Amino acid sequence: MVKLRHLRKTFLPGTTSGRMALCDVSLDLAAGDFVTIIGSNGAGKSTLLNAVAGVFPVDEGTIIIDGQDVTALPEHGRAPVIGRVFQDPMQGTAGSMSIEENLAMAARRGERRRLARGVAQKDRKAFRDYLALLGLGLENRLADPVRLLSGGQRQALALLMATIKKPKLLLLDEHAAALDPRTAQDILALTDRLVKRHGLTVMMVTHNLRHALAFGNRTVMMHEGEIVLDVGGPERSGMTVADLLERFHATRGERLADDRILLEV
Ligand SMILES: Nc1ncnc2c1ncn2[C@@H]1O[C@H](COP(=O)(O)OP(=O)(O)O)[C@@H](O)[C@H]1O
Ligand SMILES: [Mg+2]
Repeated sequence: MVKLRHLRKTFLPGTTSGRMALCDVSLDLAAGDFVTIIGSNGAGKSTLLNAVAGVFPVDEGTIIIDGQDVTALPEHGRAPVIGRVFQDPMQGTAGSMSIEENLAMAARRGERRRLARGVAQKDRKAFRDYLALLGLGLENRLADPVRLLSGGQRQALALLMATIKKPKLLLLDEHAAALDPRTAQDILALTDRLVKRHGLTVMMVTHNLRHALAFGNRTVMMHEGEIVLDVGGPERSGMTVADLLERFHATRGERLADDRILLEV
Protein backbone atom coordinates (compact mmCIF):
# COMPACT_ATOMS: atom_id res chain seq x y z
CA MET A 1 0.00 0.00 0.00
CA VAL A 2 2.84 2.37 0.88
CA LYS A 3 6.38 2.08 -0.44
CA LEU A 4 9.01 4.50 0.80
CA ARG A 5 12.32 4.00 -0.95
CA HIS A 6 15.67 5.51 -0.02
CA LEU A 7 14.29 8.79 1.28
CA ARG A 8 16.82 11.50 2.07
CA LYS A 9 16.26 14.99 3.35
CA THR A 10 18.72 17.60 4.55
CA PHE A 11 17.45 20.91 5.90
CA LEU A 12 19.58 23.98 5.24
CA PRO A 13 22.17 22.13 3.15
CA GLY A 14 25.59 23.71 3.01
CA THR A 15 25.18 25.63 6.26
CA THR A 16 26.79 24.70 9.55
CA SER A 17 23.37 23.81 10.93
CA GLY A 18 22.62 21.66 7.89
CA ARG A 19 22.13 18.03 8.87
CA MET A 20 20.49 15.05 7.35
CA ALA A 21 17.08 14.61 8.92
CA LEU A 22 16.34 11.50 6.84
CA CYS A 23 19.20 9.28 5.72
CA ASP A 24 18.15 6.55 3.35
CA VAL A 25 14.82 5.65 4.92
CA SER A 26 12.96 2.78 3.28
CA LEU A 27 9.72 1.33 4.59
CA ASP A 28 6.96 -0.82 3.10
CA LEU A 29 3.48 -0.90 4.55
CA ALA A 30 0.93 -3.52 3.56
CA ALA A 31 -2.73 -2.47 3.34
CA GLY A 32 -4.09 -2.35 6.88
CA ASP A 33 -0.69 -2.06 8.53
CA PHE A 34 -0.76 0.17 11.60
CA VAL A 35 2.83 1.17 12.32
CA THR A 36 3.79 3.01 15.48
CA ILE A 37 6.93 5.14 15.18
CA ILE A 38 9.14 5.94 18.14
CA GLY A 39 12.52 7.61 18.67
CA SER A 40 14.04 10.41 20.71
CA ASN A 41 13.62 14.10 19.95
CA GLY A 42 15.03 15.09 16.59
CA ALA A 43 15.21 11.48 15.34
CA GLY A 44 13.36 12.47 12.16
CA LYS A 45 9.88 11.14 12.94
CA SER A 46 7.97 14.30 12.00
CA THR A 47 10.26 14.82 9.02
CA LEU A 48 9.32 11.37 7.76
CA LEU A 49 5.58 12.08 8.07
CA ASN A 50 6.00 15.53 6.50
CA ALA A 51 7.96 14.03 3.61
CA VAL A 52 5.20 11.47 2.99
CA ALA A 53 2.53 14.19 3.18
CA GLY A 54 4.47 16.38 0.74
CA VAL A 55 5.04 19.32 3.08
CA PHE A 56 8.42 19.66 1.32
CA PRO A 57 10.08 17.72 -1.49
CA VAL A 58 12.60 15.03 -0.53
CA ASP A 59 16.18 15.32 -1.84
CA GLU A 60 16.20 11.71 -3.00
CA GLY A 61 13.96 8.67 -2.98
CA THR A 62 10.44 7.71 -4.00
CA ILE A 63 7.09 7.71 -2.26
CA ILE A 64 4.40 5.42 -3.61
CA ILE A 65 0.92 5.34 -2.11
CA ASP A 66 -1.61 2.78 -3.37
CA GLY A 67 0.40 2.24 -6.54
CA GLN A 68 0.67 5.95 -7.34
CA ASP A 69 4.08 7.62 -7.36
CA VAL A 70 3.38 10.84 -5.44
CA THR A 71 7.02 11.90 -5.02
CA ALA A 72 6.68 14.91 -7.32
CA LEU A 73 3.21 15.94 -6.14
CA PRO A 74 2.77 18.95 -3.86
CA GLU A 75 0.95 18.55 -0.54
CA HIS A 76 -2.51 19.38 -1.92
CA GLY A 77 -1.99 16.87 -4.72
CA ARG A 78 -1.57 14.10 -2.13
CA ALA A 79 -4.39 15.29 0.13
CA PRO A 80 -7.02 13.04 -1.50
CA VAL A 81 -5.15 9.91 -0.38
CA ILE A 82 -3.80 11.12 2.98
CA GLY A 83 -5.48 11.96 6.28
CA ARG A 84 -3.50 13.73 9.02
CA VAL A 85 -3.88 14.61 12.66
CA PHE A 86 -1.32 16.77 14.44
CA GLN A 87 -0.33 17.24 18.06
CA ASP A 88 -2.12 20.58 18.35
CA PRO A 89 -5.92 20.12 18.42
CA MET A 90 -6.22 23.64 16.94
CA GLN A 91 -4.43 22.60 13.79
CA GLY A 92 -6.87 20.01 12.45
CA THR A 93 -10.11 21.93 12.97
CA ALA A 94 -11.38 25.46 12.23
CA GLY A 95 -12.42 27.10 15.52
CA SER A 96 -14.67 29.77 14.01
CA MET A 97 -16.67 27.23 12.04
CA SER A 98 -19.36 24.96 13.45
CA ILE A 99 -18.92 21.23 14.02
CA GLU A 100 -21.05 20.41 10.95
CA GLU A 101 -19.19 22.93 8.78
CA ASN A 102 -15.89 21.36 9.79
CA LEU A 103 -17.21 17.90 8.90
CA ALA A 104 -18.65 19.17 5.62
CA MET A 105 -15.26 20.68 4.75
CA ALA A 106 -13.55 17.36 5.52
CA ALA A 107 -16.15 15.42 3.50
CA ARG A 108 -15.52 17.65 0.47
CA ARG A 109 -11.74 17.37 0.58
CA GLY A 110 -10.27 16.67 -2.81
CA GLU A 111 -13.47 17.74 -4.58
CA ARG A 112 -13.79 20.86 -6.69
CA ARG A 113 -16.43 22.78 -4.77
CA ARG A 114 -14.88 22.10 -1.39
CA LEU A 115 -14.99 25.73 -0.25
CA ALA A 116 -18.77 25.95 -0.30
CA ARG A 117 -19.91 26.30 3.32
CA GLY A 118 -23.48 25.05 3.24
CA VAL A 119 -24.45 21.73 4.81
CA ALA A 120 -27.01 19.56 3.03
CA GLN A 121 -29.75 17.95 5.10
CA LYS A 122 -28.72 14.41 4.10
CA ASP A 123 -25.14 15.15 5.14
CA ARG A 124 -26.36 16.46 8.47
CA LYS A 125 -27.94 13.08 9.25
CA ALA A 126 -24.74 11.26 8.27
CA PHE A 127 -22.62 13.64 10.39
CA ARG A 128 -24.92 13.10 13.38
CA ASP A 129 -24.52 9.32 13.09
CA TYR A 130 -20.80 9.64 12.63
CA LEU A 131 -20.37 11.97 15.61
CA ALA A 132 -22.42 9.59 17.76
CA LEU A 133 -19.57 7.09 17.37
CA LEU A 134 -17.49 9.32 19.63
CA GLY A 135 -19.88 8.98 22.55
CA LEU A 136 -19.25 12.62 23.47
CA GLY A 137 -22.72 14.01 22.72
CA LEU A 138 -21.34 16.14 19.88
CA GLU A 139 -24.12 14.86 17.60
CA ASN A 140 -26.44 17.22 19.47
CA ARG A 141 -24.15 20.22 19.00
CA LEU A 142 -23.81 20.36 15.21
CA ALA A 143 -24.18 24.15 15.04
CA ASP A 144 -21.77 24.92 17.90
CA PRO A 145 -18.54 26.65 16.90
CA VAL A 146 -15.61 24.29 17.35
CA ARG A 147 -13.78 26.80 19.54
CA LEU A 148 -16.22 25.92 22.34
CA LEU A 149 -14.94 22.33 22.46
CA SER A 150 -12.30 21.00 24.85
CA GLY A 151 -8.91 19.93 23.48
CA GLY A 152 -9.92 16.27 23.66
CA GLN A 153 -13.26 16.85 21.93
CA ARG A 154 -11.53 18.86 19.27
CA GLN A 155 -8.94 16.17 18.69
CA ALA A 156 -11.72 13.56 18.46
CA LEU A 157 -13.37 15.72 15.81
CA ALA A 158 -10.03 16.12 14.00
CA LEU A 159 -9.77 12.32 13.90
CA LEU A 160 -13.26 11.98 12.45
CA MET A 161 -12.41 14.62 9.86
CA ALA A 162 -9.15 12.94 8.90
CA THR A 163 -10.85 9.57 8.41
CA ILE A 164 -14.24 10.56 6.96
CA LYS A 165 -13.01 10.01 3.39
CA LYS A 166 -11.28 6.72 4.24
CA PRO A 167 -7.79 7.87 3.24
CA LYS A 168 -5.31 5.36 1.80
CA LEU A 169 -2.90 6.44 4.53
CA LEU A 170 -3.50 8.06 7.91
CA LEU A 171 -0.62 10.04 9.42
CA LEU A 172 -0.73 10.76 13.16
CA ASP A 173 2.04 12.84 14.69
CA GLU A 174 1.90 12.59 18.50
CA HIS A 175 -1.79 13.40 18.21
CA ALA A 176 -2.48 12.48 21.85
CA ALA A 177 0.63 14.10 23.35
CA ALA A 178 -0.92 17.47 24.20
CA LEU A 179 -3.80 15.91 26.16
CA ASP A 180 -4.04 14.81 29.78
CA PRO A 181 -3.33 11.06 30.22
CA ARG A 182 -6.98 10.04 30.56
CA THR A 183 -8.06 12.01 27.46
CA ALA A 184 -5.00 10.76 25.57
CA GLN A 185 -6.07 7.19 26.31
CA ASP A 186 -9.59 7.96 25.03
CA ILE A 187 -8.22 9.50 21.83
CA LEU A 188 -5.99 6.48 21.22
CA ALA A 189 -8.90 4.11 21.81
CA LEU A 190 -10.98 6.14 19.37
CA THR A 191 -8.12 6.05 16.87
CA ASP A 192 -8.02 2.29 17.14
CA ARG A 193 -11.78 2.02 16.60
CA LEU A 194 -11.80 4.28 13.52
CA VAL A 195 -8.77 2.53 12.04
CA LYS A 196 -10.42 -0.88 12.46
CA ARG A 197 -13.80 0.34 11.22
CA HIS A 198 -12.32 1.65 7.97
CA GLY A 199 -9.42 -0.85 7.73
CA LEU A 200 -6.96 2.04 7.41
CA THR A 201 -3.22 1.94 6.86
CA VAL A 202 -1.56 4.08 9.51
CA MET A 203 1.75 5.65 10.54
CA MET A 204 1.48 6.90 14.12
CA VAL A 205 4.28 8.74 15.89
CA THR A 206 4.24 8.51 19.66
CA HIS A 207 6.82 9.25 22.34
CA ASN A 208 5.09 6.80 24.62
CA LEU A 209 6.67 3.34 24.30
CA ARG A 210 3.78 1.65 26.07
CA HIS A 211 1.33 3.11 23.54
CA ALA A 212 3.71 2.17 20.73
CA LEU A 213 3.39 -1.49 21.69
CA ALA A 214 -0.27 -1.41 22.72
CA PHE A 215 -1.54 -0.02 19.42
CA GLY A 216 -0.99 -1.15 15.86
CA ASN A 217 0.66 -4.30 14.51
CA ARG A 218 4.18 -3.07 13.98
CA THR A 219 6.67 -0.73 15.64
CA VAL A 220 9.50 1.17 13.98
CA MET A 221 12.21 3.03 15.87
CA MET A 222 14.09 5.93 14.35
CA HIS A 223 17.45 7.30 15.42
CA GLU A 224 19.39 10.11 13.77
CA GLY A 225 17.36 9.98 10.58
CA GLU A 226 17.45 6.22 10.18
CA ILE A 227 15.13 3.33 10.92
CA VAL A 228 17.08 1.24 13.41
CA LEU A 229 14.41 -1.20 14.47
CA ASP A 230 11.28 -2.65 12.83
CA VAL A 231 9.33 -5.26 14.79
CA GLY A 232 6.00 -6.95 14.15
CA GLY A 233 4.24 -10.29 14.35
CA PRO A 234 4.72 -12.71 17.23
CA GLU A 235 8.04 -11.09 18.16
CA ARG A 236 6.23 -7.87 18.96
CA SER A 237 3.18 -9.42 20.63
CA GLY A 238 5.09 -10.53 23.68
CA MET A 239 7.28 -7.45 23.90
CA THR A 240 7.55 -5.17 26.92
CA VAL A 241 8.90 -1.62 26.97
CA ALA A 242 12.10 -2.98 28.54
CA ASP A 243 12.47 -5.52 25.68
CA LEU A 244 12.03 -2.72 23.17
CA LEU A 245 14.78 -0.64 24.76
CA GLU A 246 16.99 -3.71 24.97
CA ARG A 247 16.52 -4.41 21.27
CA PHE A 248 17.31 -0.80 20.47
CA HIS A 249 20.56 -0.93 22.42
CA ALA A 250 21.52 -4.22 20.83
CA THR A 251 20.95 -2.77 17.37
CA ARG A 252 23.02 0.29 18.09
CA GLY A 253 25.72 -1.44 20.09
CA GLU A 254 25.61 1.54 22.40
CA ARG A 255 23.40 2.98 25.09
CA LEU A 256 21.35 6.06 24.51
CA ALA A 257 22.72 9.04 26.36
CA ASP A 258 19.38 9.48 28.03
CA ASP A 259 16.87 6.65 28.10
CA ARG A 260 14.35 8.87 29.79
CA ILE A 261 13.57 10.54 26.47
CA LEU A 262 12.28 7.22 25.24
CA LEU A 263 10.87 6.07 28.52
CA GLU A 264 7.98 8.46 28.99
CA VAL A 265 5.31 5.93 29.81
N1 LIG B 1 11.62 22.68 8.71
C1 LIG B 1 12.82 22.40 9.23
N2 LIG B 1 13.88 23.21 9.03
C2 LIG B 1 15.10 22.91 9.53
N3 LIG B 1 15.37 21.83 10.27
C3 LIG B 1 14.35 20.99 10.53
C4 LIG B 1 13.03 21.23 10.04
N4 LIG B 1 12.23 20.22 10.45
C5 LIG B 1 13.02 19.38 11.17
N5 LIG B 1 14.28 19.84 11.22
C6 LIG B 1 15.42 19.16 11.88
O1 LIG B 1 15.43 17.82 11.44
C7 LIG B 1 15.74 16.94 12.52
C8 LIG B 1 14.61 15.97 12.73
O2 LIG B 1 13.49 16.68 13.25
P1 LIG B 1 12.06 16.04 13.47
O3 LIG B 1 11.73 15.22 12.30
O4 LIG B 1 11.14 17.14 13.81
O5 LIG B 1 12.31 15.11 14.73
P2 LIG B 1 11.29 14.30 15.65
O6 LIG B 1 9.92 14.52 15.12
O7 LIG B 1 11.73 12.88 15.59
O8 LIG B 1 11.47 14.87 17.03
C9 LIG B 1 16.02 17.83 13.71
O9 LIG B 1 17.41 18.05 13.78
C10 LIG B 1 15.27 19.10 13.38
O10 LIG B 1 15.87 20.21 14.01
MG1 LIG C 1 8.21 15.38 15.94
